[in-house]
Amino acid sequence: MNSSDAASQGMRSTGKGQPPRGGDMRDIRNALELARKNGVALGHFNVADLVLLKAVFSSAQELDVPVLVGASEGEREFMGVRQIAALVQSLREEFDFPVFLNADHTHTLKKATEAVKAGFDTVVFDASALPFEQNASVTKEAVEALKTINPAVLVEGEIGNIGTGSEIHELSPDLSKYLTTPAEAKQFVEFTGIDVLAPAVGNMHGMSEKMVEGEKKKRLDIERIAQIKTAAGVPLTLHGGSGTDDGDLRQAIAAGISIVHINTELRVAWRSGLEAGLAAEPHQVVPYKILPSAVESVKQAALARLRLFNHLE
Ligand code: G3H
Ligand code: ZN
Repeated sequence: MNSSDAASQGMRSTGKGQPPRGGDMRDIRNALELARKNGVALGHFNVADLVLLKAVFSSAQELDVPVLVGASEGEREFMGVRQIAALVQSLREEFDFPVFLNADHTHTLKKATEAVKAGFDTVVFDASALPFEQNASVTKEAVEALKTINPAVLVEGEIGNIGTGSEIHELSPDLSKYLTTPAEAKQFVEFTGIDVLAPAVGNMHGMSEKMVEGEKKKRLDIERIAQIKTAAGVPLTLHGGSGTDDGDLRQAIAAGISIVHINTELRVAWRSGLEAGLAAEPHQVVPYKILPSAVESVKQAALARLRLFNHLE
C-alpha cells in the first residue's frame, strides 16, 4: 500500500471487508512505522480471558486495523503464558491478521524470558518503581538478555510514576506528580537500548468512580509528550489510557504517542456485560449462552477506542 492510500484509510492497509494485509503487516515494527506515517496509534488492550480476547480481536477485525493484545503478569498467570501465546498465534495465522502480543508490566527478567520464549512480540519491562539509575541499569540488562533469546522482540521501558492497578480507585490520583522529563527520556533510551518508551505525562493506571461515570477525565501534558518524542527518538506508549479525555488522546497521538494502553474500560464493560447476560436469563447455566453479552459489551468499548486511535470516527 502506498502512503497516500494509508493516510486515507487510517491504519487500514486494505479496504474494509477486503482480505487482510500481506506478510509485512504481521511484523509489529512495520505496523508501528505505518502508524507513525499515518499519524495514528496502535490500540493495546489487556485480556484476562477468552471473552476479552474474542471481543478485542473482533473489534480490530471489524475496523480492519492492527491491534496489540496485552497480558500483564497477573493476566498471564491466570491464562497461562504459553496458552495465551498459542491463542493469539492461532488468530494471527487463521485470519492472516496483524494481532500482536505484549507481555505487559513485567517486573523480572525471569518472567520476561518466559514470555519471550513463549513467542510474545513485545515486552514491557517495568522497573519504574526503582530509582532512575537502577531502573536504567536493570532495563539495559533485560534488553540485552531478551534480544539474545529473540533479536526481533521489542522491549519497552518505563520511567516516571504512572501508578499500578487497572482497577477502580476510590480517590483520583494526582496526575501531575512524577512526570518524565525530555532529558531523562533521552538518557534512558540511549543507555538502555529500549525500542519503545513509556513516559509519565499525566497518565495513570485505573479509573476513579467519577471517571467510570464519565464525570471526570484524565488530562495529558501534550507539550511534554512532543518534547519527549523529540528527545527519545523512539515510539512512545501511553499507559493508563482508560478515562482519558478524547481530545487529549487525539492530540497525544499527533504529538508522538504510537501505542495506547486500555484496560480498566474493558474490565468495566466485561463486568457490566456479564451482569446483563446473567440477569437476562437467571436460570441459564450454559456459558456460551450467557457470555456473548460480555463479549459484545467489551467489543463496543474496544471499538470506540480503536475508532479514535485510528481516525475512523
Ligand atoms: O498496561 C495497561 C494499561 O496501561 C491500562 O491502563 O487500566 O488505565 O486503561 P488503564
Ligand atoms: Zn500500563
